[in-house]
Amino acid sequence: MRKLMMAAAMLATTALTAHADDVKEVQMLHWWTSGGEAAALNVLKQDLAKEGYTWKDVPVAGGGGDAAMTALKAMVAAGNPPTASQMLGYTVLDYAEAGKMGDLTETAVAEGWDKAVPAALQKFAVYDGKWVAAPVNVHSVNWLWINKAVMDKIGGTEPKTFDDFIALLDKAKAAGVTPLALGGQNWQEATMFDSVVLSTGGPEFYKKAFNDLDEDALKSDTMKKSFDNLAKLKGYVDPNFSGRDWNLATAMVINGDALVQVMGDWAKGEFVAAKKVPGTDFLCYRFPGTDGSVIYNSDMFGMFDVPDDRKAAQIALAKATLSKSFQSAFNVVKGSVPARTDVPDTDFDACGKKGIADLKAANEGGTLFGSLAQGYGAPPAVANAYKDVVSKFVHGQITSSDQAVEELVKAIDDAK
Ligand code: BGC
Repeated sequence: MRKLMMAAAMLATTALTAHADDVKEVQMLHWWTSGGEAAALNVLKQDLAKEGYTWKDVPVAGGGGDAAMTALKAMVAAGNPPTASQMLGYTVLDYAEAGKMGDLTETAVAEGWDKAVPAALQKFAVYDGKWVAAPVNVHSVNWLWINKAVMDKIGGTEPKTFDDFIALLDKAKAAGVTPLALGGQNWQEATMFDSVVLSTGGPEFYKKAFNDLDEDALKSDTMKKSFDNLAKLKGYVDPNFSGRDWNLATAMVINGDALVQVMGDWAKGEFVAAKKVPGTDFLCYRFPGTDGSVIYNSDMFGMFDVPDDRKAAQIALAKATLSKSFQSAFNVVKGSVPARTDVPDTDFDACGKKGIADLKAANEGGTLFGSLAQGYGAPPAVANAYKDVVSKFVHGQITSSDQAVEELVKAIDDAK
């Protein structure tokens, strides 16, 4: 045992030693182009600059990352992968299965990642016993982001059930404020629908339908009712929503042009960037009827199998990403919570503290579920089929909940 440990330590030293001909550059593909996202990414750029690494930015705009993943595919196919790419869950596994990822296991062992990173993330960052990605954060999608002044003006209180939520949206409508800020892009609509399904069917149902892809759940009356509830929400959206970027929808809430946005907690990054304070300027509540459960996604830096002279930079990036100080500093700005369980919540605002506590409770209570819209419920082909059906429903190309359920079952089946 001692011999083994010494051998591991020696190996780690070899790998972590820098060589004169190392390329001191980190090339990173990502879709963090909004104000809050760029501010968060700056934390990392600065940390790496302190270690002497230059940053080669490969930004591909488009929330949810679909455009970024198309760009990544082209780079990898051309034999020119970046040092790392922002990726969501099942995409990491797809590239790992295709043999495109590097191996960070020595660094992970030396740094004790297996003890600090929650199992729900290791499932996607470790493939075939090897660490292939560095988890950056944990985001959660079942949130409401509310403008406090508008809420006060209409005399609203925290909605605890879906019906309460509808009543609240009605109040905003009656006061002449756009009730619901939505960006009509398929990934945003599906991200919101994740929450609607959890609220309508409860935790067991969400898991069966969107993590296990159980056909009975997918074609059930509960799923139909979920689409009915989505149709209700659509009734509170302004007419110009089609194609709107998610951060512009967030800006509507920040500016008081709309009451609420249903969005992952990257939206909080926009409030923070606009110097808004939770409890004073805005409110964060769990999507009504989903208290106690967390639908999560996690940004990971997928680490590609790069040439030897680029490996030291990759290791530096991975170590910086999982350092406790970075996990706090970055996530405070990003709106997410740490991808390690041992980072104090001291520097987080009230929403961040709640996010950390909710994640812990959900993890312990078995109510932590991967987001289907955000790459953690099923492989990309299934997620894309899902986003497509939800979006067609929202935009009126699918005209009933019965038809939506039929198309969903068929699309998921074809994609599997
Ligand atoms: C990512 C977030 C990002 C959001 C909007 C999500 O898929 O996980 O980090 O802020 O998309 O771009």
